[in-house]
Amino acid sequence: MASCRRLLRWLIVTQLGSLCYYETYGITVQSDNEHVTAREFEGAFLSCKHNVRKETDIRVEWKKVKDSVISFVYFNGVFEGHFKDRAEILHSSIQIKNVTRKDSGKYRCEISAPAEKGQEAGEVEVSLLVLVPSAAPVCEVPISALSGTVVELRCKENEGVPASKYRWYRNGAILLENPVSGKFKKAKVPYTLNTTTGTLLFNPVSKNDTGEYYCEADNRVGRPQKCPVKRMQVERNSSVRNKSSKYKATESEKDFKHTKSFVI
Ligand SMILES: *[C@@H]1O[C@H](CO)[C@@H](O)[C@H](O)[C@H]1NC(C)=O
Ligand SMILES: *[C@@H]1O[C@H](CO)[C@@H](O)[C@H](O)[C@H]1NC(C)=O
Ligand SMILES: *[C@@H]1O[C@H](CO)[C@@H](O)[C@H](O)[C@H]1NC(C)=O
Ligand SMILES: *[C@@H]1O[C@H](CO)[C@@H](O)[C@H](O)[C@H]1NC(C)=O
Ligand SMILES: *[C@@H]1O[C@H](CO)[C@@H](O)[C@H](O)[C@H]1NC(C)=O
Repeated sequence: MASCRRLLRWLIVTQLGSLCYYETYGITVQSDNEHVTAREFEGAFLSCKHNVRKETDIRVEWKKVKDSVISFVYFNGVFEGHFKDRAEILHSSIQIKNVTRKDSGKYRCEISAPAEKGQEAGEVEVSLLVLVPSAAPVCEVPISALSGTVVELRCKENEGVPASKYRWYRNGAILLENPVSGKFKKAKVPYTLNTTTGTLLFNPVSKNDTGEYYCEADNRVGRPQKCPVKRMQVERNSSVRNKSSKYKATESEKDFKHTKSFVI
């Protein structure tokens, strides 16, 4: 009895399921480009194609899905909300004339048509990424620092889409991403540069790191943007100096000699 009921349920679920599938997803909907990128304030074309015969009376709807919130873009033959005066429908595709960063997101083109029993429908999703040039970054550079301490210089801008990469300059010369530590194998790494976060880390900072610093943000959409130049002055900590002369310098040979002669 139980197995019979299970069979019955199986029949209902599978048969109804395939019926629904056929009725709801009978239309093939495709896009020439499912991942559209466009620069801000330029146009974007969201393509949507279907296989319904021309004489059939179809219904075209476009929806936007952002953070799981669904809103209408094109419904009942008209554009909705802020798409009203800047978009047009071309068959079932849409052309947005002047995209802004707020237009980034996923768009769904839904096509439905009357069928013998109920409706046939199909859909395709098209993502739109609006590219925004980097803004001028804000740089954090300490005016002064004590030699031997850990110092982090920061550079950041929040407008760029995709996110900016960062470059640092000292006295007008670019700081290479993977600096070599110099002639002496055991010498410390001069600095650590993270081009993604924009941080330039001196661990520890030395007197030689004194200089004029600025950074550049670049996401290859617009021109690279820089922050104003700032000077960082690295001073010796007098206690460390006395100590280092006693226990031998960890910094460069030159610095060591200089310290020694000074103390004598
Ligand atoms: C595009 O949209 C922006 C922001 O809504 C507006 O400031 C600008 O004037 C528009 N440009 C054109 C050509 O319509
Ligand atoms: C840069 O920082 C990010 C975030 O902290 C980290 O995931 C990444 O590994 C860092 N890159 C380098 C080269 O250190
Ligand atoms: C000090 O910095 C300059 C570049 O700014 C570099 O050429 C030189 O090798 C550095 N000296 C030491 C001892 O690190
Ligand atoms: C280090 O030397 C300076 C003079 O060069 C002196 O004024 C200072 O007191 C010394 N500090 C220590 C901790 O010895
Ligand atoms: C200077 O160095 C001494 C000895 O290492 C340390 O105790 C002191 O905190 C340092 N001063 C500063 C301002 O960092």
